[in-house]
Amino acid sequence: MSSGCWSPLPGMADLGPPEIRLWQRVEADARRILALYRVEELRTPILERTSLFQRAIGEETDVVQKEMFTFEDRGGRSLTLRPEGTAGAIRALCDVGAEAGSRVFYLGPMFRAERPQAGRRRQFHQLGVELLGPPAPEADAECIALMWRILSEWGLADARLRLHTRGTVADQPAVREGLRARLAEVRDALCEDCQRRLDRQPLRVLDCKQAGCQQLMAGLPALTTFLAEDSRRYLDRVATLLSSLQIEAMVDGRLVRGLDYYEHTIWEATHPALGAQDAIAGGGRYRIEAEGRVVEGVGFAIGLERVMMALQARGVAPPPDPAPAVWLVSVGDRATAENLVLAERLRSAGVPCGADWSGRSVKAQMRAAHKAGAVWAAVRGDEELAAGTCRLKHMASGEERTVAVDELAAVVSGPA
Ligand code: HAM
Repeated sequence: MSSGCWSPLPGMADLGPPEIRLWQRVEADARRILALYRVEELRTPILERTSLFQRAIGEETDVVQKEMFTFEDRGGRSLTLRPEGTAGAIRALCDVGAEAGSRVFYLGPMFRAERPQAGRRRQFHQLGVELLGPPAPEADAECIALMWRILSEWGLADARLRLHTRGTVADQPAVREGLRARLAEVRDALCEDCQRRLDRQPLRVLDCKQAGCQQLMAGLPALTTFLAEDSRRYLDRVATLLSSLQIEAMVDGRLVRGLDYYEHTIWEATHPALGAQDAIAGGGRYRIEAEGRVVEGVGFAIGLERVMMALQARGVAPPPDPAPAVWLVSVGDRATAENLVLAERLRSAGVPCGADWSGRSVKAQMRAAHKAGAVWAAVRGDEELAAGTCRLKHMASGEERTVAVDELAAVVSGPA
């Protein structure tokens, strides 16, 4: 039967040793930094009601229109695999009555039904952060500084940061009308999708990927021209704060973010080691209406597959396999059974220990010890069992000595 069911779906991947060790290191580095900023972990379900994403991300976005994995459950409810983490995080925080001041991060898989290519997956992983609170340039700058510190800790401080603003809710009619008026002049040259977007959410025309539409966008005035003075001042303030933190950001009027919940500051970080899909992280300030209340906050998400690609391009290899301090080698059935007990005793004492239970020859077991990178091999047969000892071999030097089993943990934990 060649149904292909034994390989992952296109755009999805298994993740195991050795690459997983680099993921674990990256995650541990990030967790350490997040604790410095008092940001705590939030785990939300991967599956949510489709309407959550439609409301929070926006009906007219590409993510909602084209990229969601959506299906009906047996009860006829429309469910969607989360395409991003902000909507679920806000839902969860509202559920527990969270207020301004909540600071959470999440780490996990997201799903977008995009055409797979280098750096673009259907299942990918994000490290995301959401800091709830009302608009304040300092809060936005702190959030960007946190993202920057994480990227720097990973050795990716050569990323480039682009910054801009969406303006406020109050600016939106002027932005929409301003854009609509300019785009109406070229309506017939826009793609079918964009002609529809023009009536409903003209901002979405800006992130159309069609070459013809992109060319037309290049001729549009900067969005800031449609914004109120206060919104422009807010952006200037964020830019000034970032330079006081020695974070270089390019203010870029052409920056578009593919999600509709943003207001005020938006940003994106690209990395030069990545190819066409070079956005390594993106974020912004948002305002989401959830069950009659308005949640304001600022956040970002870093794409971890792209982080790995950038690190690999920089020659960063996964850390080596953690080698066992000692490998137990058994001569005969009794020793095999006794070594199972000894292995557990050693592990309870915090000693990383390996063994194999296959009943293979001593030579084959020694080869396994060598392959695992064990520092010591401890050999026991009937004679050693009777004497309460083992023959301890130092793998690198080949030196051998007899030690009491009760002393084994101390000896193999000491200097090799
Ligand atoms: P986003 O820009 O859609 O933002 O995604 C953030 C990052 O996820 C991207 O910069 C990219 O590195 C990675 N990413 C996105 N799609 C894919 C894909 N198909 N394959 C591989 N990596 C991908 C958000 O998701 C917002 N929720 C960020 C945010 C949080 N804004 C405020 N709070």
